[in-house]
Amino acid sequence: MKKISKIALSLAAAGLFVMGCATTSGGDISATSLSLRKASVFSEKGITPESATFTKAAPGTAKTIDRSFVNAPPLIPHSVVGLVPITKNNNACLGCHLPEVAKSVHATPIPKSHFMNWRPTYVVGKKGKLSLDGHVVAKTDGNKVYASSTHGKLYPGRYNCTQCHIPQSNAKPLVKNTFKPDFITTKELKRSNLSQNYDVGVNTIK
Ligand code: HEC
Ligand code: HEC
Repeated sequence: MKKISKIALSLAAAGLFVMGCATTSGGDISATSLSLRKASVFSEKGITPESATFTKAAPGTAKTIDRSFVNAPPLIPHSVVGLVPITKNNNACLGCHLPEVAKSVHATPIPKSHFMNWRPTYVVGKKGKLSLDGHVVAKTDGNKVYASSTHGKLYPGRYNCTQCHIPQSNAKPLVKNTFKPDFITTKELKRSNLSQNYDVGVNTIK
């Protein structure tokens, strides 16, 4: 027992010594170059994030932003002041984006994909049938994409719009993004159509 704890202690001490060297002596990496903010990572003193402003354009006066890649959730081009947070009883987004009202306010209608359930049906397995007793398994084939209609009702998993759609600020990127997307046609730059083309380019295992 005693021996083990001695070994453990000396190992811990050695570890601390190595850590100490790395942090205090500087070595090849300085504490100020470890973070994107170009300040020491060991103190928050005097650190304030660069200020950035979000678009002030009211809904109806903003210009939509090109999609980042095929079927990327579009960015919110207008101000969301007064529209968030989305709560259980209040979702202002629906007031303009539900397909039945969108046209009259010139908003992009919520697409068909949000009125579908993309999850397979899960059941509790029965011995000798679907899986071992009590295991939850997909009733449906795991190699297929399942999409069932929610009969005109917004799928509950789509209710919290700002979980996927976000407004943009004028913050300067700390690292340049070199990603270049490919689009199937130029149409996909402006609109998504996931419910029609979700399996494009996907090789399904048969
Ligand atoms: C008062 C009506 C209104 C409300 C409320 C509203 N929007 Fe919009 N939204 C629009 C209009 C109109 C556009 C088209 C751009 C424009 O004209 O400002 C738009 C554009 C968008 C787009 C871009 C669509 C595209 O084709 O690129 C997204 C995403 C979006 N809104 C999400 C939201 C979310 C999320 C909320 C709730 C936080 C919301 N909107 C609330 C009217 C509204
Ligand atoms: C789980 C993520 C997620 C949530 C939640 C979500 N969306 Fe989307 N949305 C997407 C993705 C991904 C796309 C692009 C692919 C597609 O068409 O489904 C999209 C597309 C859209 C589009 C563009 C349609 C077009 O024709 O180009 C609009 C408008 C939109 N969503 C509005 C909303 C609104 C309003 C809500 C809330 C009621 C919402 N979304 C909730 C992920 C989400």
